[in-house]
Amino acid sequence: MAEPTRNATLTLDGNTYDLPVMSPTAGPDVLDIRKLYGEADVFTFDPGFTSTASCESAITFIDGDVGELLHRGYPIEQLAEKSSYLEVCYLLLYGELPTAAQLADFEARVTRHTMVHEQMHYFFRGFRRDAHPMATMVGVVGAMSAFYHDSTDINDPWQREVAAIRMIAKLPTIAAMAYKYSVGQPFVYPKNSLSYAGNFLHMCFAVPAEDYVVNPILAKAMDRIMMLHADHEQNASTSTVRLAGSSGANPFACIAAGIACLWGPAHGGANQACLEMLREIGTVDRIPEYIAKAKDKNSGFRLMGFGHRVYKNFDPRAKVMKQSADEVLGLLGIENNPTLQVAKELERIALEDDYFVSKKLYPNVDFYSGIILDAMGFPTSMFTPIFAISRTVGWISQWKEMIGEKNQKIGRPRQLYVGPPKRDYVDVRHR
Ligand code: ACO
Repeated sequence: MAEPTRNATLTLDGNTYDLPVMSPTAGPDVLDIRKLYGEADVFTFDPGFTSTASCESAITFIDGDVGELLHRGYPIEQLAEKSSYLEVCYLLLYGELPTAAQLADFEARVTRHTMVHEQMHYFFRGFRRDAHPMATMVGVVGAMSAFYHDSTDINDPWQREVAAIRMIAKLPTIAAMAYKYSVGQPFVYPKNSLSYAGNFLHMCFAVPAEDYVVNPILAKAMDRIMMLHADHEQNASTSTVRLAGSSGANPFACIAAGIACLWGPAHGGANQACLEMLREIGTVDRIPEYIAKAKDKNSGFRLMGFGHRVYKNFDPRAKVMKQSADEVLGLLGIENNPTLQVAKELERIALEDDYFVSKKLYPNVDFYSGIILDAMGFPTSMFTPIFAISRTVGWISQWKEMIGEKNQKIGRPRQLYVGPPKRDYVDVRHR
């Protein structure tokens, strides 16, 4: 636990209260208000938690003003250039970059857990064929606690570790099965000779009738997309996982809660919404119409893939993703893709527009990821499931960190009640 470095003083109704100030290793200082209610009988009010640190964490750091993202201290740009998704998983889970032997052991453990219980195949068949793959994933990941109840005891470190590896290993299989089910194709079993990302492409695009060769360039691009989404400190879905976990719920149930939260269009669902919006715009000449709509408060329309709760400069992941989009589409020989042209022109126009500049609205990670996934052959409905696969390691790392805390408490926010004060029940005849 961080130690107080000094005190702030709050004066209320003539009384003064000391609030310890704690200094993080990076980022703004934090006022410790834990004793405030007990001493001063007041709560703090912070809807959307825009100014509240809900926990101590040593995993990920974001400086939204300068556009910096660090995992365990390492900048995302360096990891994207030099590392791999599974190495970043190790880093997030265990705190340090692995040695060659540690990485090989970790990769082997993940690879050997990619198959799902055979009975799960029947479980899938209970879903409607046209179900969104995210709907299927929320259900199937939640059901993992029924299929793997030998790793649901959160007080046993070994079971926690097994659950973590199982989820990292099986989420791609589950997402690929959700996709195959939605298009009426047979499930494809994982192939242990392939990389994590390559195996996911294989499970999505192989069919029994034909050989499927994983394109290494696409596998690398997929690995990078996964890495760029691996963790993002206390975002909505991660906070959901922590809140669910704070009651002692099992890890599979907590990750299912995270997936449900991620689905929303203001969060993980934005990558699907963004590509659909770019397609709807269609041609560069229609961009001004959409910019005007985004600026009109009465339209209810927002530019998807633009803006971020924390990044008020640029999203460093968007820069890497834009470069990746250029590379992938160039290698596939489709660099003149009209959607990419619309995206680039939209970005250029928005970044010169006073509305977006003054509100510090920049493209976020989702702005370009959909274009890459589309070029790979994924339908938009698979974009958010791919985000969910990638973020699973972040959720688990944050959950593990929370469970390991000595004085871990159930999460229980307070409220500013604005309903009727106490009143007496009125019999129905007199209402
Ligand atoms: N288009 C147009 N205007 C916008 C946009 C946008 N995409 N985003 C924010 N604004 C405007 C708001 O209308 C508001 O204007 P006002 O101050 O005049 O009322 C101002 O900018 C601030 O917006 P908030 O919603 O208060 O900002 P917040 O930090 O709460 O929201 C969010 C961030 C939800 C990401 C928002 O920017 C948004 O809805 N973006 C589009 C969806 C999206 O791309 N989400 C992906 C996020 S990244 C991720 O989850 C991986």
